[in-house]
Amino acid sequence: MTLSSSTQTPISRWFVLFLMVVLCVVPTIAGGMRLMQIFSGADITEENARFLTAPIPIVLHILSSIIFSVIGILQFSPLRHCSIKVHRMIGYIVWFSGVGSAFTGLWMTLFYPWYGLDSVGLYVIRLIVGVILSWFLCQAVWSILNRDFRAHGRWMLRAYVLGMGAGTQVLTHIPFFIFSEYQNELTRTICMGAGWVINLMVAEIILSKKQKSLSGALNNVRRINFNK
Ligand code: HEM
Repeated sequence: MTLSSSTQTPISRWFVLFLMVVLCVVPTIAGGMRLMQIFSGADITEENARFLTAPIPIVLHILSSIIFSVIGILQFSPLRHCSIKVHRMIGYIVWFSGVGSAFTGLWMTLFYPWYGLDSVGLYVIRLIVGVILSWFLCQAVWSILNRDFRAHGRWMLRAYVLGMGAGTQVLTHIPFFIFSEYQNELTRTICMGAGWVINLMVAEIILSKKQKSLSGALNNVRRINFNK
């Protein structure tokens, strides 16, 4: 499945891809910097203690999340039509990295000590997001096993867009950093949660638009056949 539909012009298709790249950039850079800190043997501070004393989950999380978000873009680009074999091979990589991102995210939520403005609300939201992401990915595999390729595409799109909540969180945190006097556990939880909720809504809007354009196309075909 691509983000392209009969209602999308090539320009809007490339624009959506451009947005996906933009959303990947900051989490990828942030992850890269954290990896450099871990591998360079930086001093332990209150801010990085959980990552430096138990680095495996965060290293696996950053690597799998970067692969999921960056390589995942290819699966939604028009390039994916070039070869079904390549699409399938990249699909395995994206799927396993998505599972890796969700599981390591869940592991860190459960076992890393809380830091700064972490709260019960954020803890619960992270658990829910980790479970939903895993569920979307399982549904995608289930659909493929049932040879329901449309459903497979819908579930993968949901999983990918939800995962990219990490990119949207960069945007939802802009007011958080501008109005620093309002920085507290509640506003941090809202900014984090909003990134995932906005993306879930965007995924459903994209899917309902695709559904409408598909129904419209089917109705046109029926009308043409009826008039023959
Ligand atoms: C593909 C999507 C994702 C990307 C790109 C991503 C990216 C990142 C990055 C770069 C970090 C390191 C932050 C730092 O250095 O301070 C991080 C940490 C973390 N992520 Fe993700 N992540 C993704 C998905 C998830 C999911 C689905 C969950 C929830 C289950 C999650 C939970 C966490 C947790 C708990 C941490 C540690 C935060 C802390 O203790 O400060 N992530 N993520």
